This record gives sequence, C-alpha cells and structure tokens, in this order.
Amino acid sequence: MSQVKVALVGCGGMGKSLISQLKTVDGAELVAGVDPFETAREAFAEEYGVPVFESLTALLAEGNLDAVVVAVPNSGHAPNTIEAAQAGKHVFCEKPMALTLADCQAMIDACADAGVKLQIGQVLRYLPDFRQAIELVEDGTLGVPLHGSICRYGPPKDKWADGHWRDDPSVVGHNLFEVSVHEIDFARCIFGKPVAVSGWDISFDPKSPLWANATTGVIEFESGAICLLTEGNFNAIGRSEVELSGTAGSIRFHWGNDFVFKPFSEEAEGLDAKSGEIAEGVENGVRRETREWIEAIQNDTPTTIPGEDGMANIEIALAILEASKTKTRVELPLKR
Ligand SMILES: NC(=O)c1ccc[n+]([C@@H]2O[C@H](COP(=O)([O-])OP(=O)(O)OC[C@H]3O[C@@H](n4cnc5c(N)ncnc54)[C@H](O)[C@@H]3O)[C@@H](O)[C@H]2O)c1
Repeated sequence: MSQVKVALVGCGGMGKSLISQLKTVDGAELVAGVDPFETAREAFAEEYGVPVFESLTALLAEGNLDAVVVAVPNSGHAPNTIEAAQAGKHVFCEKPMALTLADCQAMIDACADAGVKLQIGQVLRYLPDFRQAIELVEDGTLGVPLHGSICRYGPPKDKWADGHWRDDPSVVGHNLFEVSVHEIDFARCIFGKPVAVSGWDISFDPKSPLWANATTGVIEFESGAICLLTEGNFNAIGRSEVELSGTAGSIRFHWGNDFVFKPFSEEAEGLDAKSGEIAEGVENGVRRETREWIEAIQNDTPTTIPGEDGMANIEIALAILEASKTKTRVELPLKR
C-alpha cells in the first residue's frame, strides 16, 4: 500500500499535533476527522479541509479510509481501537493504551485477528534527551545500566477545568496512566524486562483525588537493576530529572534543559551539553512515531511501538497502584 488514507478520531490538542506531523510523512493522506463535539468538529474541518463525522461508527459506514489515529480521552482508546480494527483499519492509539490489562489484550487481539497494525503513542522515548540516553545504553557507552531515578512532578491543583475529562477518574485513570506511563516506557527501554514493583501513592489533598498525589514506584528488572520513579502533583518547586547509573558511568539530564554523561574512566569521553545541542538534527518525536506506523503499514512490517509495549507499561502502572494499596511488593506479570 503506497498511499495510506488516515482519519483522526478525537480532534483535540494531541490529535491535531499528531496530524500536523503525519501530514509531512510521505504516503500519508488525511481524509477525515471524528469528534462528538460540534465546535471541535467544525474547527477541524475548517483547518484541514476534510469531511468530519460525529462518531467512528458514522465514519466507518461512509468513509473511504485505511487507518485511524485514536486521540480521544483515555477510556475511549480501547473501544475505538477495537471498532476500527474490526472494520479492518490500522490503528495508531495514543498513550495510555487503556486503563485495564483486559482492554489492552482485547486491542492486541482485535488488531491481530484483523491483520492490521497497532502502534502506541509512547513518544517520550523519541524525544531528543531520552533518545540520547537510550543510544548511550544501546551502544554500550553507559555499561550495564543498574540504577535509575526518574522524576516528573510539580505543584498540586484542585482540578484541570470545569467538566474536563482529566478530572474524571473513570476516564483518565490516574496520573500514572495520563503522565507517568511515558517514564515507565522509558525505564523499560533502558532496563529491559521488569519482574517486580513496590509503590506508594500519597494524597496531599483528599478533595483532589487525581491532581494532588505523590506517587513513588520502585521497579525491579530481570537484570538485577532497579529504577525509582517519583511522579505527581505535590511539590511547590517541581522537578523533572532523569539519572541513570551504569557500570561505565552516569547520565543526568533535565528534560529540555541540559544533558550530562560522565564516564568513570578518565580516558573515556564524556558529554556535557545543552538540550538544544542534543536535539540538533533529531527528527520530531511525533513525526517519527507516526512515520514509523505508516511505514509498517506500507511495508507490512511489525510496528516499532506495538500493543505489547503499551500493555507492559499499563501493567507496571497497575502494579504500582496495587503495591501501594496492599503495602506489598507485587511480582510481575500480574494475574490475568
Ligand atoms: N503523547 C503525548 O505526549 C500526549 C500529550 C497529550 C495528550 N495525549 C493523549 O491524547 C489523548 C487526547 O488528549 P488531548 O490532550 O488531545 O485531549 P483534548 O481534550 O484536547 O482532545 C480530546 C478530543 O477527543 C474528543 N472526543 C471525546 N470523545 C470522543 C469520541 N468518542 N470520539 C471522537 N472524539 C472524541 C473530544 O471532544 C476532544 O476534542 C489522551 O489520551 C491523552 O492522554 C498524549
């Protein structure tokens, strides 16, 4: 298939960001948009000049398309992916893949049964600083990665906005799904297969069940490595930092700011750079994830961030919450 006709399901902020990159990819053609809200629909039709539909079902009944990008609120990822796959459409689904393992598995199965490609939007691993760290692991420069400390947190807030889906736990899940699933994915890229998890989820304001928590997870990996994750909305100063320690040296970076690699050996070459230097010549992460999905469709090759990756991230998020609730160390895989 040389030309891939793509529709966007969920014409909001992330959907439009995905489409604006996808439009630069050879062989990808935007053919429609879907959104239940008239204002979002009309704005999309005006900006992109394509027909718009109220629902995926209406689009599938009328549209001529090969593939969909699913960028609806989190609880809608599984039903839209499954409906599109059952209609024979390839799917790019935003993170978090879904809110339960059963839904993740159903998405994987629906795509496999229909013979369509499923790519999950775990874009953080493609952002320049994170990509640089992964490369230093993959080419052996860091040695064996044995310890990680990754954090992203800021001040608490009552809510996002009146009526916003991010304030509904049944739609968003938890900060671990909405935000930290990115850092969890990155940790797996660095350390490999996880085997157990411990976790703590502390509330700073019981009136804000979603956006005033300090969540800490410790992930143990098959290699013997451990990675500490500290995430949430609880700290007035805020911090966004990654520290990775390997047998040959250490990495520390502040996302979008600076990047340091310091080897233990004085003969080995280190790196001390601004993020702008790290980003030079690196493909936009959103462009890369959508381009790779289109190429997998065109060439009938496996996707680069398949459903299994999205599901492994959800499993760790669920395990951190279970460990916090039961005050136990939770072994992986979780019981299905
Ligand atoms: N990869 C990233 O870094 C990143 C960044 C932001 C958001 N996201 C993810 O993208 C998704 C969308 O987030 P957003 O920030 O664009 O939210 P948003 O609220 O800006 O957009 C969501 C859109 O989906 C529409 N929608 C709701 N239900 C729908 C349905 N059943 N069918 C079609 N459209 C529907 C809404 O009307 C809205 O226009 C979320 O899952 C979010 O986690 C990912």
